[in-house]
Amino acid sequence: MLTYEQMRQTAQAIRDTVGGADIGVVLGSGLGDYVEALENARYIDYKDIPNFPVSTAPGHAGRWWTGTLHGKRVCMMQGRFHAYEGYGLDEVTLPVRIMKLLGVQTLILTNAAGGVNLTFRPGTLMILTDCINFSGKNPLTGPNLDEFGPRFPDMTHAYDRELIDLCQRQADALGMDCVRQGVYMWFNGPCYETPAEIRLARVCGADAVGMSTVPETIVARHCGLRVLGVSCITNMAAGVTDAALNHQEVMDVANRTKAAFRSLLDATIATM
Ligand code: HPA
Repeated sequence: MLTYEQMRQTAQAIRDTVGGADIGVVLGSGLGDYVEALENARYIDYKDIPNFPVSTAPGHAGRWWTGTLHGKRVCMMQGRFHAYEGYGLDEVTLPVRIMKLLGVQTLILTNAAGGVNLTFRPGTLMILTDCINFSGKNPLTGPNLDEFGPRFPDMTHAYDRELIDLCQRQADALGMDCVRQGVYMWFNGPCYETPAEIRLARVCGADAVGMSTVPETIVARHCGLRVLGVSCITNMAAGVTDAALNHQEVMDVANRTKAAFRSLLDATIATM
């Protein structure tokens, strides 16, 4: 795990090359080209950022972008780090801490997820109202970094209510009836869940399952960032239908849904 001083050096290197930001966006599967929306965009490859991990997942580039969107300074992570790739949770969540050091106050986390709620469909966009950490792991395990936040951070409002309402209002204004709200449950992956695990998730109150986002949410709340989470439901979770799940289907639906996803994020950022 990096020291606070090392993280400050990493943030300084990013600030020196592409600048700071007020809003941070982590782009999930299929959403990577949202960086095209940035004006005056500049990027740095992860491999050129000191102390930074390098992204390996297919469909994820490894670039940190900064630019202007609707007059706001926005940084975007094109490619995130997943625990299932073998990264430690300190690496998975490092970008969130770097964003904090760069001045970010609001973090938007996006992902692809499996639909557990039987009223969802592939292509549903789910605004996260809460999350369940079902991984058995926590990114805050180990010595507390007091510079970022307290040992026992509150998770009552993991996702910011004002941002949820703002995002929902934009969905309504755009007439997007594919937008719903719900609870996201983090499974480790990389295998998809079993039908029995999905029945368990449903009993637990989950509306969607996925392999990311929760560690970033925990670390963001620890350092006081406001978080908005939005999932693209790319498939119904295992066992909802008898069909086997595969990554290609996930990427295809993510690609088909990206225009709607972008409009929702764009309208939300515009009104922040
Ligand atoms: N399970 C876990 N992660 C996912 C899924 C799923 O069904 N779909 C997209 N990401």
